[in-house]
Amino acid sequence: MKIAITSLKGGVGKTTIATNLAVCFAQKGYKVCIVDTDAEQESSIGWSEQRQDNLTNVTVVRVGERSLIREVKQMEKNFDIVLLDGSPQLRELASATIAASNFIIIPISPSAYDFWALESFMLRFEQIKQMREDKLEAYILLNKFNDNQNIGKELNESLKTEFSDIRRLQTTIGERVAYKETISHGIGVTEYKDKKAKDEIESLAQEIEAIIKTFNK
Ligand SMILES: Nc1ncnc2c1ncn2[C@@H]1O[C@H](COP(=O)(O)OP(=O)(O)OP(=O)(O)O)[C@@H](O)[C@H]1O
Ligand SMILES: [Mg+2]
Repeated sequence: MKIAITSLKGGVGKTTIATNLAVCFAQKGYKVCIVDTDAEQESSIGWSEQRQDNLTNVTVVRVGERSLIREVKQMEKNFDIVLLDGSPQLRELASATIAASNFIIIPISPSAYDFWALESFMLRFEQIKQMREDKLEAYILLNKFNDNQNIGKELNESLKTEFSDIRRLQTTIGERVAYKETISHGIGVTEYKDKKAKDEIESLAQEIEAIIKTFNK
């Protein structure tokens, strides 16, 4: 299964979600690979360089734009789950990342900027979807959301009214220091001490497992 974590916006948590999901899936026994598509930052690669060998194996590779679709297809033969960590732009790389995937997860953080960027991103998504014969789905994931923020409630309402055709993942990821503290150790929050962060990533992984099952039918 090929899943892209992608968005037009920078800093929404693509790499954070990709690395944490990868660890959680690896702990469940899946063979997992992260494809770092971001040549400028190589954040997932940087994270994996900090990861110790005695931990559950998560493979992280860098793949260039031109060979992305072909190489990801090839990787699917060796891995149960391939997570594509997207780069923050709407050029050809973003299109290739979407095109290489079975479904995409779009993290949104509580900012109107993220919400506005969704419109042009979804236009591109629809264009790619129309060229495909197999199914392609998009799911929004609220990241860095805290219950007490009004902006969170407002965005949630706007998503319902303006993007009612995009599915929303039920799990919401909170803004927690655990997501920052784990990076330099090359670990995921499911290997760390913050129970709330651990629970939400496990809940997200479960939701994604259920989506994967609908593809395998
Ligand atoms: N849920 C969260 N709680 C706290 N901090 C978070 C959370 N998600 C992401 N961050 C922090 O926000 C910053 C951006 O996250 P990240 O690098 O994952 O975003 P990105 O979308 O991959 O960025 P880029 O577009 O630059 O690739 C990082 O410092 C990260 O630690
Ligand atoms: Mg990133």
